Amino acid sequence: MTENPSIPSTDPMATFDAWFAEARASEPNDANAMCLATATPDGKPSARMVLLKGHDARGFVFYTNAQSRKGGEIRANMQAALLFHWKSLRRQVRIEGPLEEVTSAEADAYFHSRPFVSQVGSAASDQSRPLDTRETYLERVAQIEAQYGEAGEVPRPPHWTGFRCMPSAIELWHDRPNRLHERRRFVPEGDGWTSTLLYP
Ligand SMILES: Cc1cc2nc3c(=O)[nH]c(=O)nc-3n(C[C@H](O)[C@H](O)[C@H](O)COP(=O)(O)O)c2cc1C
Repeated sequence: MTENPSIPSTDPMATFDAWFAEARASEPNDANAMCLATATPDGKPSARMVLLKGHDARGFVFYTNAQSRKGGEIRANMQAALLFHWKSLRRQVRIEGPLEEVTSAEADAYFHSRPFVSQVGSAASDQSRPLDTRETYLERVAQIEAQYGEAGEVPRPPHWTGFRCMPSAIELWHDRPNRLHERRRFVPEGDGWTSTLLYP
């Protein structure tokens, strides 16, 4: 592997785009997988993987079931931290900031862009709630498939939605030789960003 060049000190979104493109080319699967950390209002954190399904200057979007454990924590505390670790590139991206829910038009568009089987699976899942047996889930899947198979699409459940993390900080980290790694933290300033190098 060739040495990572210095992290540019401006525009972390442009560097994110470049790193993400390289990750999509190099990671064996799910280059868009990121750890999503949420916390209860009294400060108990929890973390799990989700998929990045869109990003632009406004922020980073993932989709989920708002009645899940994470959904409950988000409703009570609209703050999150996101983490990418692209192992083959030896790079880490940390993103922190408040969340906003995407519009129902955005959620509808993304839900219906997914394959029918994925729409069925999401609609059939009471995410994070106890399940007596796997057969119960499979029966719900079969029932929804039968109900909407002819239409070829499932109505988006109202609790299935997306959230955008609007970055109040972005931190880029990458490997450099002899474990003398490089780490730069960006915070918004005016229309752009200001950044500081941190000890790794
Ligand atoms: C690689 C990967 C990607 C995942 N992507 C999503 C996702 O985009 N949305 C989602 O709700 N769950 C996703 N999951 C499942 C979550 O990690 C988690 O099990 C689920 O959302 C329930 O989390 P909660 O109980 O904390 O709400 C993914 C899991 C893995 C391993």
